[in-house]
Amino acid sequence: MLGHLLHLSGIDSVIVENRSKNYVIERVRAGVLEQSTVDLMIESGMGERLQSQGLCHDGIYINVFGQRHHIDMTALTGRGITVYGQNEVVKDLIAARVRARRPLHFEVAKVSVDELGSKRPKIRFTKRGKPSEIRCDFIAGCDGFHGICRPSIPESHLRIYERAYPFGWLGILADAAPSSPELVYSRHQRGFALFSMRSNKVTRLYLQCAPDEDLTRWPDDRIWKELLIRLQSDDGWKPETGPITRKGVTGMRSFVAEPMRYGRLFLAGDSAHIVPPTGAKGLNLAIADVWRLSHALTEFYKSGREELLDSYSDECLRRVWRAQRFSWRMTTLLHKPVSKNAFDQRRQVAELEYLMESRAAMTSLAENYVGFPIE
Ligand code: PHB
Repeated sequence: MLGHLLHLSGIDSVIVENRSKNYVIERVRAGVLEQSTVDLMIESGMGERLQSQGLCHDGIYINVFGQRHHIDMTALTGRGITVYGQNEVVKDLIAARVRARRPLHFEVAKVSVDELGSKRPKIRFTKRGKPSEIRCDFIAGCDGFHGICRPSIPESHLRIYERAYPFGWLGILADAAPSSPELVYSRHQRGFALFSMRSNKVTRLYLQCAPDEDLTRWPDDRIWKELLIRLQSDDGWKPETGPITRKGVTGMRSFVAEPMRYGRLFLAGDSAHIVPPTGAKGLNLAIADVWRLSHALTEFYKSGREELLDSYSDECLRRVWRAQRFSWRMTTLLHKPVSKNAFDQRRQVAELEYLMESRAAMTSLAENYVGFPIE
């Protein structure tokens, strides 16, 4: 996205990616886009498939111990969400890059960044064993939580904020028609479950599990049995079942590295911050970061002014912390606590009841879920 936005401003860039093209477009990830993410895709000329295949949702359901409640986000906030796989977004971005004929290197290795404090930092990598070096004006570290950019910043320069959760999500993709037009977040006695989708034929489902859950202990029929128990509601709703085509376990953490800049290196997306997936904010935050970075760089090349580059980190972090709070809130609200503290358990029930009975509480959830305008 950053490469494309810079290209539209006449600024050249080189993208290096250590995975293969197939890996990045096949890897199933989250799938909820905020309106501002959708608007940016459309405004930058990449919205064609999104507009024809994305599923527009006005609300979500929350199933509280069997009682399914609807939160009508469009009525409460005037905005909705679009369900469109993150890997589909990646496909559209790659197609735009290829159309623009700008450099995009897959399957590079040994990537390193250097001389970050100078005005000409460099990136080194090898492609098919051949070493390359790029001298540039700026480096954008869009290389995810496990990437090399954040660890290239001296430790003394970064402050890390972190929280790990004592559970993970077991996620599946199934060839089954979604039996609800909208997502269902479920807090069941046995733990959290989520019903989502990718198309009119494919359902995406998740179960709360241990962070290091052993997938071999989860044959398909056990997964379906548990999903049906946790998701079905007293009104008779339950998900449609079908052949499982993908399975995986993801851990959950909240993480922020501050500031999101060191010299001429700017961090964006998961390299600087991770949210647990319950709030569906990860991709949307990354998009907001690179929108801001593209504006700051455009201003720099147009006028030589560095104010927007200087305020990049602080401005991004305001949105990041707002999303951190919301993602932590959704996670602690909906998961079965591992702690046996009776007070915490009753408090969670009181919060769920408050959410279902108060329009103000629902509006607060809805406005955070649909996301705030970028800017
Ligand atoms: C998904 O569709 O993969 C999904 C939806 C909502 C979430 C997380 C993941 O909160």
